[in-house]
Amino acid sequence: MKAKAAVLFEVGQRLQIRDVEVQAPRADEVLVRMAAGGICHSDLHAMTGHLVASLPAILGHEGSGIVADVGPGVTSVKPGDHVIPLWRLSCGTCEYCSDGRPALCPEGTQIRMTGRLLDGSTRFTLDGQEIKHFAGVSSFAEYSVIPARAVLKIPEDFPLDRAALLGCAVITGVGAVFNCARVRPGSSVAVFGAGGIGLNVIQGAAIAGAEKIIAVDILPNKLEFARQFGATHTINGSTANAVEQIRALTDGKGVEYAFEAIGLPATMRQAYDSLRKRGMAVVVGVTPMTAEVSVPVMSLVYEERILTGSVYGSSRPSIDIPKLIALYRTGKLKLDELLTRRYPFAQINEAYDALERGEVARSIVTF
Ligand code: CU
Repeated sequence: MKAKAAVLFEVGQRLQIRDVEVQAPRADEVLVRMAAGGICHSDLHAMTGHLVASLPAILGHEGSGIVADVGPGVTSVKPGDHVIPLWRLSCGTCEYCSDGRPALCPEGTQIRMTGRLLDGSTRFTLDGQEIKHFAGVSSFAEYSVIPARAVLKIPEDFPLDRAALLGCAVITGVGAVFNCARVRPGSSVAVFGAGGIGLNVIQGAAIAGAEKIIAVDILPNKLEFARQFGATHTINGSTANAVEQIRALTDGKGVEYAFEAIGLPATMRQAYDSLRKRGMAVVVGVTPMTAEVSVPVMSLVYEERILTGSVYGSSRPSIDIPKLIALYRTGKLKLDELLTRRYPFAQINEAYDALERGEVARSIVTF
């Protein structure tokens, strides 16, 4: 079948909307008719080359849709089911999956690096040329073929536009708070970056009962978003020394948890420098592959500080996403406020321009 899809042909180019050929799903695969695709920085990193992606590819790794067809052997979903794709494929049986860490499964890395499905081929072609699957999801297409293990059924009465945000921004940010840092009630938290992920770290910290949530960004409108999502204090990092201010707000001690959701070694170091003794800094932002960050060794030893990272919210999506849906339904998780703009699919490049300018909390394209 033919479907419109946003293809990245080469690093540095804009997305091109083309009519690609989509093949039928094979064994253990699902054909999804996309309802919405989330506009996330990781796709932008693929466009700029910060994130290595196998090209040409149909981008998009956050989304929601309805199962249109299933290949042989698929029993987890059926046509008509509402689903969200998961951009971190997991096998369910390796040591990481068995340990409740499916985001670390080697299958997720394999599909991301090759851009091909598990049998080594793609289900997309354009004029006979192979088109790759970005993160195994390719949500910027009217139809996409996805491994059955990488789609999660959601309730039919849950709005599909807001569901699209759960599969990346929300689970990554909130999950880093719940599963990686395990923020405790009454604690102090600093969050560097108040974009799509940072806002979800902030609301995760608020749900977890943090007493102080200090947001750092350089754009006043993002600091305003941060307050809306639960930040108790905001710091404009372009005019103030964020580390000094965070220490001043915590009786000179520093915070128990700091999160970096920008992707810059300098702010990762600032997050680390904001910690009190035994504090934990969690890196969520992604950098170019070769980036490094250094920290003073003696603070690791004599202050027992922790510097770690979190991928995909260190989550178990089949357990965590239903919990996120429940938190939304009880009014604790802000998704309506997060979804600040909807674009028709044809305006996907405009959506990325607005993301680059920092105008939106989170936006989607709809089909
Ligand atoms: Cu993302």
